[in-house]
Amino acid sequence: MRRPMVAGNWKMHGTRASVAELINSLGHLALPSGVDVAVFPPSLFINQVIDGVKGKSISVGAQNSAVESEQGALTGEIAPSQLVDAGCSLVLVGHSERRQIMGEQDAVLIRKFAAAQACGLIPVLCIGETLEQREAGKTIEVVSAQLGSIIDELGVDVFAKAVIAYEPVWAIGTGLTASPQQAQDVHAAIRAQLAAKNSEVAQGVRLLYGGSVKAANAVELFGMPDIDGGLIGGASLNADEFGAICRAAGN
Ligand code: PGA
Repeated sequence: MRRPMVAGNWKMHGTRASVAELINSLGHLALPSGVDVAVFPPSLFINQVIDGVKGKSISVGAQNSAVESEQGALTGEIAPSQLVDAGCSLVLVGHSERRQIMGEQDAVLIRKFAAAQACGLIPVLCIGETLEQREAGKTIEVVSAQLGSIIDELGVDVFAKAVIAYEPVWAIGTGLTASPQQAQDVHAAIRAQLAAKNSEVAQGVRLLYGGSVKAANAVELFGMPDIDGGLIGGASLNADEFGAICRAAGN
């Protein structure tokens, strides 16, 4: 049985005051014991969040990390080893906003993924198609190429210690959600792609769905056989909503 995970991607949101408020509200949530709960604050607030959630079963991750695992001369970047030192256990790799707005391509993402794992961080690899690609019938092709670039370079076994988030770009922050069946179809294809190389890894890896998940649609999405939880953007900034999504994953 895969243990569900719900992760909140705070993106570029927050001030010291609003983060303090959010931490305080998260601390009051009744979180289900059967679900791994994580938050990904902006790097600036990682220390504050790690201090603030001490003693709660909430993991903290970063939204991005450097292509090199150890600290060094790389202006503006944060090394995975520094994130581990701060107390992070996870890092997002290849979120669509970084692929699209920052121009991150597979070659860089492979290095980020490997550098993170080399330090013991769990990479959460984000993959997903644009609306144009979906309408052209290319969803599986696109997602499979994004996943395949990591498998080809690093091998399938790296997914024994990683998480994959399927996030259709057209569903991120738009209020449009993939239907549970649309999401399930892609999740099943992702698992099949992994299974073709290593069935044990495929059965064990957690596949999260992301894209306008809310408490109102979470139960149905998380009820699908290959959806093991969610990567939550907007709704993770509201502690009550986020808590309800975590409970949906526990059902
Ligand atoms: P959203 O974002 O929940 O606001 O759609 C999800 C994500 O980008 O991780």
